Amino acid sequence: MLPIGPLMIEHRLIERMITLIREHAVQAKSETKIDPHFVDAAVDFVRIYADRTHHGKEENILFRDLHGKQLSEQDAVIMQELIDEHKFGRQVVGELVDANEAYRNGDQSSLDIILDKLQVLADFYPEHIIKEDKVFFPASMEYLDASEKDSMLAEMWEFDKKMIHEKYIHVVEDLESQ
Ligand SMILES: [Fe+2]
Ligand SMILES: [Fe+2]
Repeated sequence: MLPIGPLMIEHRLIERMITLIREHAVQAKSETKIDPHFVDAAVDFVRIYADRTHHGKEENILFRDLHGKQLSEQDAVIMQELIDEHKFGRQVVGELVDANEAYRNGDQSSLDIILDKLQVLADFYPEHIIKEDKVFFPASMEYLDASEKDSMLAEMWEFDKKMIHEKYIHVVEDLESQ
């Protein structure tokens, strides 16, 4: 498997979550209420799976190695766009967390902010994924030889192994600090 294989498989799960986010946002808008637990679950998915585990492999392995290559101007521009989009996603999720907290504490006006942030995520991720799947990922593989691809894939599996432990260390640490 190419090192972009696991990343593309992960895109498919992210797309399924985006579909759920979009459906919940539509329903919440018509009912003028949302279940904060759904927002918690969406935030957890985006932060731990989409950002830490998935963007983590993109930035800390694929992009890291590509920084050492002579990328074409176009590929360098797209890679920077992808990095900036990851940052944008983090910012939106942070705003979503704040709005969900306010909503949970009784601030009904936060619902509009929650719906806006969910919509932004639902619009942003599919475009980001298409740019990677159809444009940047295929182009990126041209810079790597067979052994570089193999070692990159192996590093990605190793990266994934750490994620479940990291997640639950944080769960315990958060509970300990309360
Ligand atoms: Fe990405
Ligand atoms: Fe991605």
